[in-house]
Amino acid sequence: MSELGAQVVALDIQERAIQSTQQRVEGRNVTLHCMSHVTFPPLTAPPRLIVYNLGYLPGGDKHRTTLTQTTLLSLQEAERILAVDGAISITCYSGHEEGEKEERAVLQWAKELSSSQWLVSHHSWLNRPHSPSLLWLRRSGSPDKGQYVYFDLT
Ligand SMILES: C[S@@+](CC[C@H](N)C(=O)[O-])C[C@H]1O[C@@H](n2cnc3c(N)ncnc32)[C@H](O)[C@@H]1O
Repeated sequence: MSELGAQVVALDIQERAIQSTQQRVEGRNVTLHCMSHVTFPPLTAPPRLIVYNLGYLPGGDKHRTTLTQTTLLSLQEAERILAVDGAISITCYSGHEEGEKEERAVLQWAKELSSSQWLVSHHSWLNRPHSPSLLWLRRSGSPDKGQYVYFDLT
């Protein structure tokens, strides 16, 4: 995203994840924060894209995983601060106990979002039940403005 010119603010609760990311984004417009996603760091403008990569750090401690309760609190905050034309992407990992519970809760939260304000889709691999699934939520604007979704099929 930073290569495309976006200002990126990223966070992880583990210093180890921050350090390895720091090396990869050196010199780019990326600000890293070592903190829980239960709150957001100060932002200069409403974000247009909020990306969640839930679960635990590959090769790290599997117990330091995102948790259903705090993820839901974070999503509620994301819903509040997202730009009016913004989107949220959430990658869920149901291959472990907490991840399965978390995915169920996140899907339930997403299902209950107002259909006049949000477009919500969920992609999962039907013949690979424990593969990561992707939720894509697009704020569709004020219902009285008559917004359209445009699919470019060329
Ligand atoms: C699947 S890994 C993603 C790693 C890296 N952020 C990325 O996207 O490549 C999930 C990450 O969530 C982090 N995490 C766990 N609980 C968290 C929390 N409450 N707030 C922020 N990050 C958390 C873990 O430390 C782990 O690095």
